[in-house]
Amino acid sequence: MSNKGARNLFIFGSLFFFVIFLAITFDTLGKLDKRAPEITKEVDEGKHVWHKYDCIGCHTIFGNGSYFAPDLTKMAINRPRSYLKRFLMDPKSVNANAAMPKFGISADEADRLIAFLEWTSKVDTNGWPPKPILAVAAGVSGPELSAGQKIYRSQGCSGCHMINGIGGTTGPELTHVGSRRDRNWLHEHFEDPSKVVANSAMPSFKHLGDQALNDLTDYMLTLR
Ligand code: HEC
Ligand code: HEC
Repeated sequence: MSNKGARNLFIFGSLFFFVIFLAITFDTLGKLDKRAPEITKEVDEGKHVWHKYDCIGCHTIFGNGSYFAPDLTKMAINRPRSYLKRFLMDPKSVNANAAMPKFGISADEADRLIAFLEWTSKVDTNGWPPKPILAVAAGVSGPELSAGQKIYRSQGCSGCHMINGIGGTTGPELTHVGSRRDRNWLHEHFEDPSKVVANSAMPSFKHLGDQALNDLTDYMLTLR
């Protein structure tokens, strides 16, 4: 190749790839905007409360922070607002064994924190942080699962309860719940927990319908 040919190849080749580089950059920037919902004033204030109490001293968010307590990025998905509010203001009112201290968070501050946690739970993090292997092992799919087991998994019960060592510790451990409670108690409790257990922090699952609650109850009764 002549010197001129080599020079032209260099110039046009570089230009060609530079244009592709710009196109890809703009494409990525455009997508980034859509990956997080709008930051409202309440969300912004919630972030300030988050820093005020140094929540990151124990928890991670987007995978950053300390590993003493669970990651909170997607925590708001399976926890109703009323539940979170109660827990934040007084963890022991929900779970007598809660290790999280009572910080003296006001109702107002709790609302803002929840707005912040609802915001983080809506951010498209591309699956980050990765779920612990145990949570994956307890995945929603699997042909050998009974109807009740599928509902248990899809409703996020394991976020609050533990069965055979897998799950959260906010609610009682359910490994042997079938030997403590009978059918009527369980069904009624799913419909309206606070009617059966004074001051219960468990959300109602009445909206799932009778059939689903029967399936769940069947499953609970197998845990002995
Ligand atoms: C001293 C450590 C510590 C700090 C600081 C802390 N937490 Fe926690 N948090 C925990 C632990 C431990 C748990 C797991 C449940 C338990 O044992 O209390 C938890 C659980 C939670 C949960 C989940 C409750 C559930 O249903 O399982 C939320 C939500 C939460 N913390 C929010 C916060 C927020 C918001 C802050 C800052 C205001 C905060 N935490 C600060 C230790 C801490
Ligand atoms: C946000 C946390 C949370 C979620 C989600 C949750 N629970 Fe609970 N659950 C609790 C708490 C707190 C209690 C203790 C208070 C009570 O008994 O009502 C409890 C109690 C129970 C009990 C009674 C256990 C006993 O021996 O007294 C059963 C059974 C139960 N839950 C099953 C379930 C099932 C099944 C699901 C999913 C459909 C579920 N829970 C979802 C928090 C939760």
